[in-house]
Amino acid sequence: MTILAMDQGTTSSRALVFSDGLQVIAGAQQEFQQHFPQSGWVEHEVDDIWTTSAATARGAIEKAGNPRIDAIGITNQRETVLIWDRQTGQPIHRAIVWQDRRTADACARLKEDGVEPEISETTGLLLDPYFSATKIAWMLDRVDGARARAERGELAFGTVDSFLIWKLTGGKAHVTDATNACRTMLFDIRKGEWSADMCKLFNIPLAILPQVKDSAAEFGETRPDLFGRAIPILGVAGDQQAATVGQACFQAGMLKSTYGTGCFALLNTGEQAVRSENRLLTTIAYRLDGKTTFALEGSIFIAGAVVQWLRDGLKMIREAGETQDLSQNADDSQQIIMVPAFTGLGAPHWDPEARGAIFGLTRNTGPAELARAALESVGFQTRDLLEAMRADWRDAGDAVLRVDGGMTASQPAMQFLADILGAPVDRPSNTETTAQGAAWLAGYRAGICPPPEEYAKAWRLDRRFEPSMTAEMRDRRYSAWQRAVKAVMAV
Ligand code: G3P
Repeated sequence: MTILAMDQGTTSSRALVFSDGLQVIAGAQQEFQQHFPQSGWVEHEVDDIWTTSAATARGAIEKAGNPRIDAIGITNQRETVLIWDRQTGQPIHRAIVWQDRRTADACARLKEDGVEPEISETTGLLLDPYFSATKIAWMLDRVDGARARAERGELAFGTVDSFLIWKLTGGKAHVTDATNACRTMLFDIRKGEWSADMCKLFNIPLAILPQVKDSAAEFGETRPDLFGRAIPILGVAGDQQAATVGQACFQAGMLKSTYGTGCFALLNTGEQAVRSENRLLTTIAYRLDGKTTFALEGSIFIAGAVVQWLRDGLKMIREAGETQDLSQNADDSQQIIMVPAFTGLGAPHWDPEARGAIFGLTRNTGPAELARAALESVGFQTRDLLEAMRADWRDAGDAVLRVDGGMTASQPAMQFLADILGAPVDRPSNTETTAQGAAWLAGYRAGICPPPEEYAKAWRLDRRFEPSMTAEMRDRRYSAWQRAVKAVMAV
């Protein structure tokens, strides 16, 4: 028995074929173009999302030796907005990506109107352009005739999962799962349904929204011509929630952090939807067998992307991996602090207008010191999140952080993370946690994979990073970071 996991991310689409024991048999990946039509705007060509997803799925199946695929799991970049015509399947606009800040003013106006507390109470989110609602409204208002077509029921909105399912099923299913729905800012997380009040507030017709299902459910069957036969789609989760599942964080108090383009830390809070006093998000970790498990989430927009900037922006390195060697040669007497607020600051600061800065430069500062500061910025930002989590939920006090994502391959970055947190950091031997989470959801629904408790037993540690920095140094460095963040927010 085999399961196909499709992982549609911000910069690439990937597909992996898993055995019933959730071992990777084969995989394929394709990057696609990012569009930046204006400062702070980020778009994807909808066709790129589909063609790279379909091609990598076919590629992975072929590389695996064309096995019979029994189930498909989908995981995806969250919040990104797609709207298409229900008849023709034609998108009305490029996808507006989660990183896009074009609705910052609209969010600021709503904040002034005093509606943020009501939004947070219902959706668990904060008023920030990051989430889908203000982007959906932007598209409906800016594309000629779109609002009228939406009201007539002619248009469909979806996050990436929903759009992929629509395409895979040949337009038969317009569905999503609870983890994706809860990132739109239109979903009542406690009631587990779309909120008519939020739709009214953001002026979004309910008619364009997909049906919301559990994360392991029957989402539809693929068109038979796509992969040779109709395959059921049985698992769907936003990528950060899929990683939470892949890391087997099924118990309240368990915590994971994924280092991709950005960094997203999720703390499982069980059946309790904890209201954050520290500007974290209350989100749905997963919904299984009709039961919702909640999480507190800290979202940082720039993690791995800071290394991409060293490579593509500064042209200081040719490959991301070079950062590691460079940083090990950095001069210890220089304490450079880099605040990579390229697209504003996410949790817990939420400042869409903040921009990045580097502090402490001297004439001796060179690529090695900048590389180290870039890696350390990820550790500092994670500490900000954990501080907020500890303040919101006392049981988070001694949770061990499970990490995953590309950046965890960097020993110096992970060692600094443990040092600055003053707590151990666990890196699992399975590095494909996001795709594996999606595969497990599909396999669980299909009856191929074991229930959560059994699956959790298979989690294996690759390496534990223990903190080795003195408490005095940790406090000094973290205070310097906090001053630097204050400074970028003040400019
Ligand atoms: O919330 C955004 C997140 O889902 C994007 O993840 O891995 O595509 O950067 P990633």
